[in-house]
Amino acid sequence: MSLMRLAYASEATFEAKSVEKGVEPHVARILMTSRRNNGKCQLVGGLYYGDNRFFQYLEGEEKDVLETYQRIQKDSRHKNLITLIEEPLEARTFENWSMKYVPLSRDVRRFLDDHGLDRFDPASFSSGQCEEMIELIRNSSQDQKLVNYDEAKTIEKRPNAFSVGQRTGLIVAALCLVGALFAAGSML
Ligand SMILES: Cc1cc2nc3c(=O)[nH]c(=O)nc-3n(C[C@H](O)[C@H](O)[C@H](O)COP(=O)(O)O)c2cc1C
Repeated sequence: MSLMRLAYASEATFEAKSVEKGVEPHVARILMTSRRNNGKCQLVGGLYYGDNRFFQYLEGEEKDVLETYQRIQKDSRHKNLITLIEEPLEARTFENWSMKYVPLSRDVRRFLDDHGLDRFDPASFSSGQCEEMIELIRNSSQDQKLVNYDEAKTIEKRPNAFSVGQRTGLIVAALCLVGALFAAGSML
């Protein structure tokens, strides 16, 4: 039994649907299948999707990585796959997680800014940049929280529906109403 790791870049062929909440539906389906299949053979890694591009990292038993990659290569939801890393691995470097999904989070934006890149184009990443991306996946805590970058921005900017004063007023009004109902009830 020997371990290996593999990373590739590709271009999505689908028209990304803008979603107000959660993950782009095509990507959500890919993630569902990946988690189901990869979990079975202890394949771990991460998937980035942004600017219509994918970057995926996989590590596990050589046979499982290669079989999975063969299926992935035939998938019509992406094209122009470029293998960035394909090499043996001495020991696993991920905790047991079948497939992290890393949206274009602030971390990735910072990575792009640090390297003077204006968009997410993993096909042109150097090997050092690939390693940095893998490290971001490793450190990502976003696996459970599937928000995308744009949504995170909207949430940050969205003002509270009510100001603190308005909220206090509403609570006082609700308490008065309850009190009045109580008083009316006791008079009957
Ligand atoms: C960008 C991308 C990444 C994918 N990653 C995985 C993966 O990690 N594991 C996996 O089993 N399938 C992955 N798939 C899906 C496979 O191409 C294929 O549809 C799937 O493995 C078929 O599994 P099923 O026979 O269980 O439906 C990916 C597809 C795309 C487009």
